[in-house]
Amino acid sequence: MTLFYRVKQFYWALTAELNDSDKNFIKVNLNENEFRLFNKLSLQERKHSVKVAYDVQKICNDKFKNIDVSLLLKAALLHDVGKVYTKLNILDKSLLVLGDKISKGRLKKFCNIKKIKVYYYHPKLGKELLENIEKNNELLYLVENHHNNRIKGNLNLDILRYCDKIN
Ligand SMILES: [Fe+2]
Repeated sequence: MTLFYRVKQFYWALTAELNDSDKNFIKVNLNENEFRLFNKLSLQERKHSVKVAYDVQKICNDKFKNIDVSLLLKAALLHDVGKVYTKLNILDKSLLVLGDKISKGRLKKFCNIKKIKVYYYHPKLGKELLENIEKNNELLYLVENHHNNRIKGNLNLDILRYCDKIN
């Protein structure tokens, strides 16, 4: 990810708010249980997830007509739901991204620290949370693997990862 995107993300996080059409969009695309879980996320995370979902919708409308858009929109809105376990503020996140780079991933060893655990393992934590309320395995798979760049050839995952990265 370029420095330009990082700076943009930093600015977005500082100025995050949900307007009425965001709130409506969330309500339309999530059921009651999903909505309840989603609302446990910080405002920054909710705003990020909505932006990811808007881009997913745009890409699907423009390029991919045969995709299950409602599934992918749910995945976009819920992909970071594993972050409900702790609030990672923008400074935490900047330090974690930097620490991960400098330590070449060895920061992972300090998973006894909650913020570090959530940073690295929120996809798995999110999938485990969603298992209680979701039956759709593809949705669980997308959430669990949204940072797994080794998986190739899954169009849904490619779209989700791309939209996550640019937001
Ligand atoms: Fe994530």
